[in-house]
Amino acid sequence: MENDNKDGLRSRDWFGKTGKDGFIYRSWIKNQGYPAHQFKGKPVIGICNTWSETTPCNGHFREIAQFVKNGIYEAGGFPLEFPVMSLGETIIRPTAMLYRNLAAMTVEESIRGNPFDAVVLLTGCDKTTPSLVMGAASVDLPTIVVPGGPMLNGKFQGKDIGSGTDVWKFADDFRTGKMSAEDFEEAEACMSRSAGHCSTMGTASTMAVMCEALGLTLPGISAIPAVDSRKKMLAHMTGMRIVEMAKENLKISDILTKGAFENAIKINAAVGGSTNLILHLLAIAARIGVDLKLEDFDDLGSKIPLLVNLMPSGKFLMEDFYYAGGLPVVIKEMSEVLRKDTISVNGKSIVENSEKARNWNPEVIFPYNNPLKEEAGITVVRGNLCPDGSVIKVSAATDKLLTHRGKAVVFETIEDYHARIDDPELDIDENSIMVLKNSGPKGYPGMPEVGSMALPKKILEKGITDLVRISDARMSGTAFGTVFLHVSPESAVGGPLAFVQNGDMITVDVPNKILNLDISEEEMETRRKNWKPLDLGYVRGYAKMYIESVNQAHLGADFDYLVGKSGSKVNRESH
Ligand code: FES
Ligand code: MG
Repeated sequence: MENDNKDGLRSRDWFGKTGKDGFIYRSWIKNQGYPAHQFKGKPVIGICNTWSETTPCNGHFREIAQFVKNGIYEAGGFPLEFPVMSLGETIIRPTAMLYRNLAAMTVEESIRGNPFDAVVLLTGCDKTTPSLVMGAASVDLPTIVVPGGPMLNGKFQGKDIGSGTDVWKFADDFRTGKMSAEDFEEAEACMSRSAGHCSTMGTASTMAVMCEALGLTLPGISAIPAVDSRKKMLAHMTGMRIVEMAKENLKISDILTKGAFENAIKINAAVGGSTNLILHLLAIAARIGVDLKLEDFDDLGSKIPLLVNLMPSGKFLMEDFYYAGGLPVVIKEMSEVLRKDTISVNGKSIVENSEKARNWNPEVIFPYNNPLKEEAGITVVRGNLCPDGSVIKVSAATDKLLTHRGKAVVFETIEDYHARIDDPELDIDENSIMVLKNSGPKGYPGMPEVGSMALPKKILEKGITDLVRISDARMSGTAFGTVFLHVSPESAVGGPLAFVQNGDMITVDVPNKILNLDISEEEMETRRKNWKPLDLGYVRGYAKMYIESVNQAHLGADFDYLVGKSGSKVNRESH
């Protein structure tokens, strides 16, 4: 192509061109009031913004974007902010996960099709992080992440309360009459009292920590509350750094090496992060071309101790974590077990970046050799019930239920569960195992966060707070309990979960990584032959496409045709 490309920046193929095409690219940018010298010859930095009023957790992102822009201008770059599909976990139906891959497609195509030399990803609410990182990984430009930050601690009746985690507790108390309707409503505004994402170590915080652990952010940014002015300062610094990264051509694939994924898995275990990380990290790895398997989460993570005392595994919140020193303290504590042959966005390893970290609150962050809980990471179990695996977050489970045998109480769908759970006739006791089907990637579709089914009222009234639960669904990162998730293959495609019947005995043996349906092989075969899939009834549109192309959970639930990357080249002109 004809252009004035002297330094290899891809934006020159737009703004540096001579003739008609260059005229068109420049002329229409000028209609926004930019004089030529403001963008010609400068690295063009895309700011991928997930601001939306339907994503409350990212509601402050127009302001954050402005601080990123200030940094980009200061460093001699030219920012162009653009919107992508934004997913608000609490609002969008039937589940944000259904649209993660669609959002990732909007990100990938928006980055590749536009004249960006590098991109800044503004991420916050749960799915807005993986969708942006997945899309960016498939283009492979220099990329940096600004996590939007958690809300301030919730404050209610003199106590700190955390997003999600306390909702599940209040809901149980409200159902059993321990909490009044007035208090229940008052707690709404007390829980969410500032801009930002969930304040617990739920999926959003987990994803922010994941980005910092992978090396995709400036050090120390993930825990900073959304409304803390230091979030804006680091947004500004991020803008400055991405301009240098564009010049250095430090690509996302230089950062996302196998070692970076190993670090992310170990750090997730130490912070008590969400099981949702598994799906997203598997999907990101498959995009960038790193060989990561479900087993890696167990091999690398299950022996790691819990160092961070945050809900839902512990008692504090993200604001406390930041004041205690945040993720750099955890990284420093773990330096012996982390890979150091990785680089982060500033060119140094995360371990090197954390050398000077100090722990300001030992109640919130524990030392590696005297942790809050031993061996607390995610465990992957297998057995005839889940030949391709199922996962459990041990740090959020009840110890004595990790080895258990009990009778299955089966719900065919989540609607079936809702209809019958509080039926006084339901045959269920403290030894029962709740089984939910048809809630996997294809079956729902979209693999919703319903795996942590609330217990029946009559069980709660006995003072019992946990039962073993098994499903092909996901669970909110803010939830807790002895919950087996992501059973693969899922029931809707004829995985063995589909064949469980009421009264079957199930063996749970987490120390030996076993989840077994105690029936003979012959019986399993007979049930398989008699099994008929549910008619899901999706005949058109995105849901149909999703069901046809989504991979199973143990592969990350991406679309089969989105695995891998296509790079940043666009060979054809638009006119
Ligand atoms: Fe957005 Fe929890 S709902 S982060
Ligand atoms: Mg969530």
